[in-house]
Amino acid sequence: MLTFRRALLVAAVFITMLYLVTRTHAPSPMDQIPPQAESWPASNTEGHTTRTGYTPTTPVSTKGSDRMPQAKKPKTHGQQQLLQDMSRAPLKDKLAYQFPYDVETKFPAYIWQTWKYTPASGDFGENLRPAEASWSEKHPGFIHEVITDQVAVHLLRHLYVAVPEVLEAYQSLPLPVLKADFFRYLILLARGGIYSDIDTHALKSAAEWLPESVPREAIGLVIGIEADPDREDWADWYSRRIQFCQWTIQSKPGHPVLRDVVANITQETLKKKKEGSLKSFKGKNVIEFTGPALWTDTIFKFLNDDKYFDMSTGKGNITWEDFTGMTTAKKVGDVVVLPITSFSPGVQQMGAEDYDHPMAFVKHEFEGTWKPESERHIGAEVKEEGQ
Ligand SMILES: *[C@@H]1O[C@H](CO)[C@@H](O)[C@H](O)[C@H]1NC(C)=O
Ligand SMILES: *[C@@H]1O[C@H](CO)[C@@H](O)[C@H](O)[C@H]1NC(C)=O
Repeated sequence: MLTFRRALLVAAVFITMLYLVTRTHAPSPMDQIPPQAESWPASNTEGHTTRTGYTPTTPVSTKGSDRMPQAKKPKTHGQQQLLQDMSRAPLKDKLAYQFPYDVETKFPAYIWQTWKYTPASGDFGENLRPAEASWSEKHPGFIHEVITDQVAVHLLRHLYVAVPEVLEAYQSLPLPVLKADFFRYLILLARGGIYSDIDTHALKSAAEWLPESVPREAIGLVIGIEADPDREDWADWYSRRIQFCQWTIQSKPGHPVLRDVVANITQETLKKKKEGSLKSFKGKNVIEFTGPALWTDTIFKFLNDDKYFDMSTGKGNITWEDFTGMTTAKKVGDVVVLPITSFSPGVQQMGAEDYDHPMAFVKHEFEGTWKPESERHIGAEVKEEGQ
């Protein structure tokens, strides 16, 4: 019985590998952030038409610090030498080399989810089937993968073979919820597409998330707002005044925000491991360590990073004030931020509209019946030992 299941698992892993592992990597311009920072639709006059303190930017690709200093021409060094050079490079540079970002590519037609079981399993959970099916129904032609923990290990081992510290960090994370958080960033960095928690329903196709007028070749990351608590005591309820959600993310592979968040979690994890504080890590700080607080901070850091954007002509930083109260999507550089209604409809607070609103794209099961943040991950947990 066990052997048979093992055999099935091996077969499943193999088949998954076959079509996930198709792209080869070539060094290419790292970051080609388009030089616009603007709100749209242009006709929107709901107070978000102008940016405060933020001006158009220049592409970063000519700046030295974010490029691969060691990615020398193979003709003089050969593959071996190149790999050696890379193994000594800073983590972010290695990641940029492995997963180059090209904003002009298409959004890959992947939908990634994680769960203890695949939908083919009788144990999958009947209550989750309509949600899972909604993603396939709304996205014909997409490759829709529900990745179990065992498959995740094999997949990551393949994708990150050249960045062993990332694998060490993943394997060292002491809680399934931390791995579930880390996995979504890792798979999007390496392959791109849509990640969405297993307890989310697709209300609309991702093809409709961005208005027709927005050129897809200028966008590399699409995010939504989880929380925009306009109240004095917001800190009692949320960890950031504006919190971006990470239960649904769309990206192109190699996006710098994903690279930054993966480097951050890797380094923080290995630091904690060295200090010996990882084993005693408790669930309370998940939000800061790998969850939406870290995600939100990483996005703001990116938007205010002079490596990527020309900040010299601006009047100040991008802050929560640029995104509070939004009712239409907003584009900053190559990032589109959707209003709270898009990924958090029906929460009946913070300005979110209901599920039937035209801007409602994804329904998150736990958001309908609002739960405190500490419980937010229950649906996303990936069990450690599947058997
Ligand atoms: C990771 O991000 C957090 C939040 O922004 C920051 O406090 C921390 O210093 C970062 N760690 C590393 C290693 O970059
Ligand atoms: C903008 O943010 C950077 C770091 O994110 C900080 O060093 C700088 O002081 C901020 N500038 C302003 C005007 O707040």
